[in-house]
Amino acid sequence: MRAPAVTGETGSPSVEELSAVLAELRNSLGFMAACGCTGFDRIPDAGRPEASAGGIAALDEVRSDLGDCRRCGLCRFRTHIVFGTGDPHARLMFVGEGPGYDEDLSGEPFVGRAGRLLDRIIAAMGLSRASVYICNIVKCRPPENRDPLPDEIGSCLPFLERQIEAVSPRLICTLGAVATRVLLQTSVPVSRLRGRFHDYRGIRVMPTYHPAFLLRYPEKKRETWSDMKALMSEMEMNSLLT
Ligand code: URA
Repeated sequence: MRAPAVTGETGSPSVEELSAVLAELRNSLGFMAACGCTGFDRIPDAGRPEASAGGIAALDEVRSDLGDCRRCGLCRFRTHIVFGTGDPHARLMFVGEGPGYDEDLSGEPFVGRAGRLLDRIIAAMGLSRASVYICNIVKCRPPENRDPLPDEIGSCLPFLERQIEAVSPRLICTLGAVATRVLLQTSVPVSRLRGRFHDYRGIRVMPTYHPAFLLRYPEKKRETWSDMKALMSEMEMNSLLT
């Protein structure tokens, strides 16, 4: 009798691969428990809708129109434009504020410490980074991670609006004060807006705390998890109706 494969060369997962999956699962469950989750329902077809032809081509067009953007002063400080990543047909879009140090270097949104927390939140929702779409209000890093200025937001916003139109998500989750203020055109704080849905051009929007804020105030994770559960229920409802 052959010993069980440990290298994965047979096409079956190796012991190391299974251990890594188990460790990740343990991590996600630990995070959910820390957020106050005591159980979860299965979300049918949580990830993708039927592919519509438009998403990828329309997104490519937005990226190409953005080009090597010089529309505002942020271009002087950037290493990379951070356009957005994920499924061009995603049902759920996360919108953050703007790239930080790690994102500027890599060209990908939410890859630093806050990004790793966002990854854990997405995994706890039973989704993956590849099945949602992630982008920001501004696509170049503001110096010293300051808030983007009104003219910088104004230059970038038409591209975000076109991204949203191209992906056409059912739901948007705004992460933090800047994304919430810009998309919902309000100065009401996130703490008073979160926990219920708002409207952006017919799309349901759930504002929640920014992952960087959660790193500083972990006690706010419980409220964020409750916002994520509302998004999950809405996705479940949508997939039952479509
Ligand atoms: N914070 C953001 O708002 N966006 C990123 O992409 C990274 C950190």
